[in-house]
Amino acid sequence: MKTYRIALIPGDGIGRDVTDAAWGVLQAVAARSGFGLAATEFPWSCAFYKETGRMMPEDGIETLRAFDAILLGAVGWPAEVPDSVSLHGLLLPIRKAFVQYANIRPHRLLPGVQGPLKAEAFDILCIRENTEGEYSGAGGRVHQGLDNEVAVETSIFTRKGVERIIRFGFEQARTRRGKLASVTKSNAQKYSMVFWDDITKALAAEYPDVEVKSYHVDALAARMVMAPESLDVIVASNLFGDILTDLGAAIQGGLGFAASANINPDRSAPSMFEPVHGSAPDIAGKGIANPMATIWSGAMMLDHLGETAAAARIMTALSTVTAKGIGTIPGKDKTDTITAAVTAALTSE
Ligand code: NAD
Ligand code: IPM
Ligand code: MN
Repeated sequence: MKTYRIALIPGDGIGRDVTDAAWGVLQAVAARSGFGLAATEFPWSCAFYKETGRMMPEDGIETLRAFDAILLGAVGWPAEVPDSVSLHGLLLPIRKAFVQYANIRPHRLLPGVQGPLKAEAFDILCIRENTEGEYSGAGGRVHQGLDNEVAVETSIFTRKGVERIIRFGFEQARTRRGKLASVTKSNAQKYSMVFWDDITKALAAEYPDVEVKSYHVDALAARMVMAPESLDVIVASNLFGDILTDLGAAIQGGLGFAASANINPDRSAPSMFEPVHGSAPDIAGKGIANPMATIWSGAMMLDHLGETAAAARIMTALSTVTAKGIGTIPGKDKTDTITAAVTAALTSE
């Protein structure tokens, strides 16, 4: 029997609840599908930082490299550790070190979920650049605390980085409805975003079967609300993709439904699967976090590992549960109730 080695990083806040939930569902589906999943759990988190002074050990990246995939809950506990420390100490270095340059975030309504929009028949796949751009970490502050203080945060866009993510977007569009929306702000940002538009245009020649259109990010945000059914695949830079995917989460019923896969398309290192949401300090410890985003991310992990039938079974189970009205209203059903319903939907197939 094939057994996949999975690194589990629950992280902070509701990260623990949602990874426990997803792991239970993944184990149940693996048992019924004839493969194994072996977890090694890592306690890396803000609590770990308070004990050790680091978000993960110095050899953390090398430790993770041995795994087939990583399943992560959420990182961040801003009341005790600044986000600039926790995220740059754990989540962001993993995405970068393992060249997980394609962050895939699907936005569609599960049956029975009431989103805030009139439109219901949308199915958007957001492809977010995940290793450079506005998240390059280049910059600094001078004259700190003084009247003449200056802060600089430099976005770095490389030809290699931009080409590969836009190409990834074209390839995804080709397997779906053949439409690609490339997102920039090239009316205001005249170097990086014009560069992005130029590369989009150049690659378009290689994909005559894909209908590609460039949008400014502000207009695209409005389109996601006003006419989401007009969109298929979106490809965006790191920061724009971050913002657009919380918007995508909102139109699909909330952050509790939004899944995410940080993919290394070359498979030269493990990919990482996690919900779009964070540690939700406002509801942590209440047992009401919606685990569906993480369960869906777990299905994306199985898909990536080649267990496509098992991944599809999870997605069917999620739909069965939401169609019955379980987990569809934020805060109404407990995490455990939703998880048990999804597991039961799997086993009753
Ligand atoms: P958040 O996503 O944690 O929460 C935003 C809102 O959505 C909150 O009201 C929360 O209760 C709700 N929410 C989130 N997930 C939910 C779920 N599964 N079920 C029900 N409601 C849910 O964003 P935030 O409050 O800005 O960030 C909190 C911390 O998490 C910060 O430290 C932030 O930096 C971090 N964060 C981490 C990640 C990550 O690890 N990938 C992502 C986003 C934010
Ligand atoms: C996400 C998160 C992270 C990001 C933060 C926590 C650094 O918001 O995964 O969407 O911006 O990538
Ligand atoms: Mn985000």
